Amino acid sequence: MSEPADRYPVPAEWAAKAKVDAAGYDALYARSVAEPDAFWLEQAGRLDWIAAPTEAGDWSFEQADFRIRWFSDGTLNASVNCIDRHLTERGDQAAIVWEPDAPGEEPRRFTYRQLHAEVCRFANVLKAQGVAKGDRVTIYLPMIPEAAFALLACARIGAVHSVVFGGFSADALAGRIADCDSKLVVTADEGRRGGRRVPLKACVDEAAKSTPGLERVIVVKATGADVAMGERDVWYHDAAAQVDADCAPEPMNAEDPLFILYTSGSTGKPKGVLHTTGGYLLYASYTHDLVFDYRPGDMWWCAADIGWVTGHTYIVYGPLANGATTLMYEGLPNWPDAGRIWQVVDRHRVHTLFTAPTALRALMKEGDAPVRMTDRSSLQLLGTVGEPINPEAWRWYHEVVGEGRCPIVDTWWQTETGGALIAPLPGATALKPGSATTPLPGVRPQLLDENGTVLEGATSGNLVITHSWPGQMRTVYGDHDRFFQTYFTTYRGKYFTGDGCRRDEDGYYWITGRVDDVINVSGHRMGTAEVESALVLHPAVAEAAVVGMPHEVKGQGIYAYVTLNSGETASDELAATLKAWVRKEIGPIATPDAIQFAPGLPKTRSGKIMRRILRKIAEGDTGTLGDTSTLADPSVVDDLVAHRVG
Ligand code: WT7
Repeated sequence: MSEPADRYPVPAEWAAKAKVDAAGYDALYARSVAEPDAFWLEQAGRLDWIAAPTEAGDWSFEQADFRIRWFSDGTLNASVNCIDRHLTERGDQAAIVWEPDAPGEEPRRFTYRQLHAEVCRFANVLKAQGVAKGDRVTIYLPMIPEAAFALLACARIGAVHSVVFGGFSADALAGRIADCDSKLVVTADEGRRGGRRVPLKACVDEAAKSTPGLERVIVVKATGADVAMGERDVWYHDAAAQVDADCAPEPMNAEDPLFILYTSGSTGKPKGVLHTTGGYLLYASYTHDLVFDYRPGDMWWCAADIGWVTGHTYIVYGPLANGATTLMYEGLPNWPDAGRIWQVVDRHRVHTLFTAPTALRALMKEGDAPVRMTDRSSLQLLGTVGEPINPEAWRWYHEVVGEGRCPIVDTWWQTETGGALIAPLPGATALKPGSATTPLPGVRPQLLDENGTVLEGATSGNLVITHSWPGQMRTVYGDHDRFFQTYFTTYRGKYFTGDGCRRDEDGYYWITGRVDDVINVSGHRMGTAEVESALVLHPAVAEAAVVGMPHEVKGQGIYAYVTLNSGETASDELAATLKAWVRKEIGPIATPDAIQFAPGLPKTRSGKIMRRILRKIAEGDTGTLGDTSTLADPSVVDDLVAHRVG
């Protein structure tokens, strides 16, 4: 693979004004390695503690004494750090600016003082419904300000939030309610996205049929749609009218859980990734400050959904902990037209825009005109997250969107890592299109070969992290052993990321994508096993194997090989039915892009599906299928190649 030779040096203006320059980065990194505890305790000073921690990391990735704890004698409250502590200095500054789906509608603004009142009120509503410290609250909301209020309200009273993306189906929602045993769900009558309505309350009703433990549903009136209200349902505005706007924050130990967020893995059902209060919040604040060089007064826009970790860390916790003004956008980047995202940038004079490569590729397809029609002079810094960015999209972002003026920070991280681990600093790091560049201070990556041998210098391998950092997940909710087995057994004593990676001669990291059975569709993680399970639930399907395939906009698309039960006939209608089936079972993001009916799948004599071959066929790379002689029936491959869908 050839890499673009070009480097983009730090712009002089950024080198001069940034909080951290190249020498500063080197010094911070060196100190974080030499004295990690002192380094992180110093960083912990970013937060307001009720009792300041005296210990930093207490961790081991070895089975015998496996544990991950940070700042464990510290006490704090996350909502106080995101709200109360800013009130004296910036009570009247906007904390959240909300841009509605429809461009003609007025934005809503909430100052820190108003945010305090909203969050306290929400917290009191939760309390009045019986929610107590440690209880899990499922949040199934569209991108409305109440979503941020709900997260912070949970944090205020020590409840553990579990946000489920509003695009997930009733079944997916039910699984997540049941897994963490939530007795209460917060939802809205409907969501709006790109001019369409999403029937959230109806989905909760559907999910409730299979979640007997669900006792209460709080419904925010978002669109005013006529929805059925049953015995377990409470309108938020009714409940809010009966409580006051002050709520004492619950003192939390740094290691008390803050939230659960479900994410797909290579096997089994989605895992409840658990983050705790002190380490996560500190890491969110630290990375938001360092990577985005945030200054008071800057308008910050992370164009993600709160249903993903990016929204948790960089719409809510990081920016608010840092006293920022965070823009929340209800809609889609390209609705009602391809220029909307840039119109929003202009309307709110956005300083930093943080988005996903998939969105950029979709916008790029519409040409430069919708971008050029807008001003964008407020933009100073650009960011990406979620998947490798192809150099072509990177250059378009840099040249057309940023007019060559704005550095692009490509942030590599995961739901599990809480915040960015590998990313440039705008004032310190020369950029290379497609590379997330170098590790942040405190982050210790390594590349290993299949046998766990450490690879040095310019090389490619599997990416592990050798030392814990405060934002690391602490467990899989309800299954600590699964946590250990999933991340710490592939390479003993190291955190395995699941990503492949190349390191170049300058020590820059180039993430090449997942090396496990996880695919990245539009920056969203999807377990192939999950899609397979959904497919085999259909009565016509005997067996299914799902792999990723290259997709121009989504990065990866979903390619499903399906073997039908005898008596069933393959047809275009059945393929369409199966796509709709998966959509209903999991959600629109899991919809297969291609379904190939296959009389047989390539299996070894012991019955193991050879995915390597299926991946190559889906990619259209049928010339180099490699050794197929170990297959139980090598002839199935010819049939698969002959009937490739594409
Ligand atoms: C996987 C994590 C990080 C929040 C959004 C996704 C891929 C993420 C990058 C990047 C290349 C990236 C990795 C990772 N990924 N960011 N900048 N360059 N790949 O979180 O759903 O937990 O997915 O996304 O493969 O393992 P997630």
